[in-house]
Amino acid sequence: MSSKSALPDNLLCKKTQAAESNKNAILEVLKKELSINATVLEIGSGTGQHAATFCTYLPTIDWIPSDCNRESFESITSWKKVVSAENMEPPRLIDAASPNWNIGDVNRISAIVAINVIHISSFDVTLGILNGANKYLDKGGILYFYGPFFQKNVEAKESNKVFDQYLRNQNGCWGIRTLDEIEVLAKDRSLRLYNIIQMPKNNLSVIFQKN
Ligand SMILES: C[S@@+](CC[C@H](N)C(=O)[O-])C[C@H]1O[C@@H](n2cnc3c(N)ncnc32)[C@H](O)[C@@H]1O
Repeated sequence: MSSKSALPDNLLCKKTQAAESNKNAILEVLKKELSINATVLEIGSGTGQHAATFCTYLPTIDWIPSDCNRESFESITSWKKVVSAENMEPPRLIDAASPNWNIGDVNRISAIVAINVIHISSFDVTLGILNGANKYLDKGGILYFYGPFFQKNVEAKESNKVFDQYLRNQNGCWGIRTLDEIEVLAKDRSLRLYNIIQMPKNNLSVIFQKN
């Protein structure tokens, strides 16, 4: 049989090398930063590898994957089946740049997570995530970004400068964001920068808390 439904689920589980190599380092940060029964909305889940890993190692949290691209859903739901993650909800179709997010019947969100999203999308997406965090996060909840950032008082690493130029050549709206600018916009949206953690390969974990 050659129909897609006859394939084992793990054949539909897509993988990226980037997610494979950063998932354990991110997991260690999330273990410290998420409350034990957190409800986490992930923006731009992509393949679903992160969702599957975090649901496996953080079994008491409730993880809601999402993406603006419905084509990601097959891989996300396949990962859910392959790791038997009962704590992973069905993926939501969410365009982070839009003012209203389809979060379903969830009535509290304790964390919003966006991994390698804001430099590979237009700045509207960064703004949309900040607006969404202001709108949907519980008081005291966290907004977590992972990826490369520039910082005004920190000399940019050569590899990040090269990567930024590469992104801008791919799409004029993409590019590594400057954390100081995001911090100002976040402040206007009741989000306080409370932790920056250096991660492998010149990436950062950046955590804002909702006032
Ligand atoms: C580089 S991939 C990262 C995927 C995953 N977070 C990871 O680290 O493996 C960027 C993801 O952001 C999603 N994305 C881009 N624009 C978006 C938007 N406006 N709203 C929500 N997701 C978006 C893409 O569909 C893609 O899945």
